[in-house]
Amino acid sequence: MVLGVTGGIGAYKACELARELMRRGMRVKTVMTAAAQRFVTPLTFRTLTGEPVAVSLWDDPTQRVHHVSLAQEADVVVVAPCTANVIAKVACGRADDLLTTTLLATEAPIVVAPAMNTHMWLREVTQANVALLRDRGAVFVEPGSGELACGDVGEGRLAEVSAIADAVELEARRVASLAGVRVLVTAGPTREPIDAVRFIGNRSSGRQGYAIAEEAARRGATVTLVSGPTSLPDPFGVTTVRVGTAAEMLEAAEAAFGVADLVVAAAAVADFRPVSTAAGKLKKADAPSTVELERTVDILATLGARKDGRVLVGFAAEAGDPVAAAREKLSAKNLDLVVANDVTEPGAGFESSTNHVTLVTAEGDEALPMMDKRSVARAVLDRARTIMEGGTR
Ligand code: CTP
Repeated sequence: MVLGVTGGIGAYKACELARELMRRGMRVKTVMTAAAQRFVTPLTFRTLTGEPVAVSLWDDPTQRVHHVSLAQEADVVVVAPCTANVIAKVACGRADDLLTTTLLATEAPIVVAPAMNTHMWLREVTQANVALLRDRGAVFVEPGSGELACGDVGEGRLAEVSAIADAVELEARRVASLAGVRVLVTAGPTREPIDAVRFIGNRSSGRQGYAIAEEAARRGATVTLVSGPTSLPDPFGVTTVRVGTAAEMLEAAEAAFGVADLVVAAAAVADFRPVSTAAGKLKKADAPSTVELERTVDILATLGARKDGRVLVGFAAEAGDPVAAAREKLSAKNLDLVVANDVTEPGAGFESSTNHVTLVTAEGDEALPMMDKRSVARAVLDRARTIMEGGTR
């Protein structure tokens, strides 16, 4: 673990946190900001952790570049206590000291335990920065309420050491939870051409599927993402195969299915396509008054019929209560988990950065709160992992 300590009175509790993480079997390397060293000394952490403590970008010219090496070797980066200033810097991508460069450079999950004056914590700009970082996947351990060092009473006190250690441990477990697992994810819409320039499509942004692919890769899986047309960049560390139509998506998914252990079908595949595609661009004058449609192949059901011990996860996007429909899909497509959501609800489903889903399995339903799509990705993969552990494959 890389433990970042910033300049707040809670810095003394970071010493306890370092000990607690070590007690739980983790190796801890500490990075301190200049302000943190006003409260606690590097010697304290060096003595507690038995590791050198990094305090500057310019520490030792003979060593490997710190901000890169720490960022790369970290399984989890935890910042406790984290000031409003460091939250703001990370939110806008500033990197003007060793800790903020490490935070910008790392691919590891980031756990943040804020501690500050209650007014600073509740300030709109701080809350907006927190929301931004959460949206990008940072895990926050909320500050508690009580008497603060400045004499104010309210929210802003560093969370309990055990709660921070729990969050770090959970992330550390997740990091390796899909090591060696091969995952196939479908994402985005498909486009079924009417002619050379027009198509039938849908409003799927692809974000939920991309978040799942990215998170699976972060957890050590080998991931193939078969994506319909989206405006999103290829996720880091993922083999991305771009397709257009449902038929192309089926072909690419089947190719990756053979070696897959886990399949997550998040794509909004068009259920219908035009029976024929006009060559070139149809002129207004020649346009047909109707477009005859036929069903596309159900990719997930096709894979479900050849399941053979794999874990299969589908999505059910419904207008209205989705759980009953999800339950039907669970058995009809031979799935282990269906992620159900009501796409008509504000903040859920298509074109939204958040989602409000219910996880439906044969054992029962679990309604999750409204959360960003990366958090949904985490919850889906946590559950898929549990199913895989109970499975036979
Ligand atoms: N799916 C698929 N191939 C299709 C259609 C859907 O793989 N041709 C997958 C989606 O990726 C998703 C799930 O199946 O995981 C959605 O099921 P579907 O029955 O298509 O849901 P709806 O589109 O809501 O269909 P219905 O109108 O039957 O409820």
